[in-house]
Amino acid sequence: MKQIMNLAKRTTLISPSPTLGITAKVNQLRAQGIEVIGFGAGEPDFDTSAHIKEEAINSLQAGFTKYTATSGIPELKAAIVAKFKRDNGLDFQPAEIIVSCGAKHSLYNAIMVLCEKGNEVILASPYWVSYLEMIKLSGARPVIIKTSEKNNFKITPEQLLSKVKDQTKLLILNSPSNPTGMMYTAQELEAFAKIAVDKNMLVISDEIYEKLVYADKKQVSIANFGLAIKERTIIINGVSKTYAMTGWRIGYAAARQDIVQAMANLQDHSTSNPVSFVQKAAVTAISGPQDEVEKMRLEFKKRRDYMVARVKAIKKMSCLAPEGAFYVFANIAKLLRKNINGLEIKDSQALAEFWLNEAKVAVVPGSGFGNDNYVRFSYATSFEKIKTGLDRIEAVINEYY
Ligand SMILES: Cc1ncc(COP(=O)(O)O)c(C=O)c1O
Repeated sequence: MKQIMNLAKRTTLISPSPTLGITAKVNQLRAQGIEVIGFGAGEPDFDTSAHIKEEAINSLQAGFTKYTATSGIPELKAAIVAKFKRDNGLDFQPAEIIVSCGAKHSLYNAIMVLCEKGNEVILASPYWVSYLEMIKLSGARPVIIKTSEKNNFKITPEQLLSKVKDQTKLLILNSPSNPTGMMYTAQELEAFAKIAVDKNMLVISDEIYEKLVYADKKQVSIANFGLAIKERTIIINGVSKTYAMTGWRIGYAAARQDIVQAMANLQDHSTSNPVSFVQKAAVTAISGPQDEVEKMRLEFKKRRDYMVARVKAIKKMSCLAPEGAFYVFANIAKLLRKNINGLEIKDSQALAEFWLNEAKVAVVPGSGFGNDNYVRFSYATSFEKIKTGLDRIEAVINEYY
């Protein structure tokens, strides 16, 4: 009998996303009629604004349903160019923009066209889960700089310099960060920019949480520090988080034309264009009224303040106040290495499972983000649910610790 072929080796390099894994478990419990409070979500709980939906419906009904240019329709590229000018003070040409099926897709395309075996990619931990897997898939070696609460989960220019080698191709920055919510200051970014230029490195700057900032500062892009660094930077952004459009799948990248062209070639032979009428809706989202974004930001800020205060008040837990995004990365080190009725709570995964079973509350274990002493709470859920979920966790901790 003919032997069944094995999977390609590269598929064995990647692990399933822990964020999606926890969501699946929650759905399973809910299907059994169990009421679970989910703190796992990586998406705003708000609905997409009516004017954005309307544009999608109108375009769909007008028959805008055919293939478009792979890298996006001219109106959307023009809207993105105008957005970079308006929000970031950056000048791009339409040929320096590519629209993809989500920021994740833009990141994937960028990493695939830039990285290969023999390259090293520098990444701060805790990191967003997909960076690591994409780097591994490309054949490059991830070089992780561990950060800690003491440094607000930020790398220093000295740490960065100490990791740069001849093989270093790329630095990945994510500010505001998922999962920690930290943000780099202009001074820090300027120092990184100098190192990247001096050492001939490229930078991916993932700015997907740009508009969800609660600290008294504006998000700054590393590409703002001169032409030399702008030419080495691939900015990643999208409509998912800013406009509550996660399911619509529109992300984009801005970079040097040769990089964008290579990304478009890859996209040509994989997905082709993002959905035609959704691109029209994205034009409306980016160019239309922005007041819903501010409303959402203010609501997230209220929830953040409440969640931070509550987490800090729970026995054996602590956290920093995130400056942006919609996550609290809570320190649970003091809850680990504990035996509860024969169950060993040895790591963040075990604690998350314990909470899911005992409190019917879902969080994402920190292990997937590169730090096992933490769990990630998302506050992209209603105030009432945040309160109920934290009440339940507090009760379980008070009972067992
Ligand atoms: C840091 C970061 N980058 C990129 C993405 C991907 O966003 P999109 O929905 O546009 O693919 C996410 C989504 O969770 C994220 O947290």
